[in-house]
Amino acid sequence: MSAEADKTREILIAPSILASDFAHLGAEVKAVEEAGADWIHVDVMDGHFVPNLTIGPPIVEAVKRSTSLPLDVHLMIEEPERYIEDYVSAGADTVGVHVETCPHLHSTVAQIRKAGARACVVLNPATPAESVEYVLDGIDQILVMSVNPGFGGQKFIPEVLPKVEKLRRWIDERRLQVDIEIDGGIGPKTIGQAASAGVNVFVAGTAIFGQDDYRAAIAELRHAAG
Ligand code: DX5
Ligand code: ZN
Repeated sequence: MSAEADKTREILIAPSILASDFAHLGAEVKAVEEAGADWIHVDVMDGHFVPNLTIGPPIVEAVKRSTSLPLDVHLMIEEPERYIEDYVSAGADTVGVHVETCPHLHSTVAQIRKAGARACVVLNPATPAESVEYVLDGIDQILVMSVNPGFGGQKFIPEVLPKVEKLRRWIDERRLQVDIEIDGGIGPKTIGQAASAGVNVFVAGTAIFGQDDYRAAIAELRHAAG
């Protein structure tokens, strides 16, 4: 079944708290939950794999107490295998690790599942689909970065869309239950292309937390995703 033909795929919207007001984090998370968000996306950065530094397990734990939505934790850190259990204990429902940081990817995704979370593998814009071909059977989600990770508010890179199409084809041909997520520069103007390529989970920071009306922003994204 082609991505175009499968109109029944559920669209999930995951606001990225990176763009929220950290002084009122609990209220921000509650506000997007009430506005119709499906998941909460949490960006963890270490100042090494990416130039920026953000948050650690105590903040994930605080977010968990603020919402009943699943937490989608995106680890932009070196040696993620050292911290997986900490993030799962803090409340991560999904843990995403960058393939660029995982020389033993097969065992790292097994470690995530063993810790009790959904396993997600993340690809930078320049990383090919083939880098996850041999772990497709052991994962729950693939996150395709549509910006170079590290900062919110960057411009969407459309060159990643053929990679999404290829991954969607492999997943559908093999009849696997693997979500495809996209992250970076997603807004009303870009979400439709990503959905057509086969994405079903959409991370958005600026396009939600940067707007005055979270409910209207989420509804507009959902509408534009078709
Ligand atoms: C970037 C992060 C994203 C970021 C997206 O490295 O992984 O989740 O918050 O922000 P926007 O939606 O503003 O591009
Ligand atoms: Zn992210």
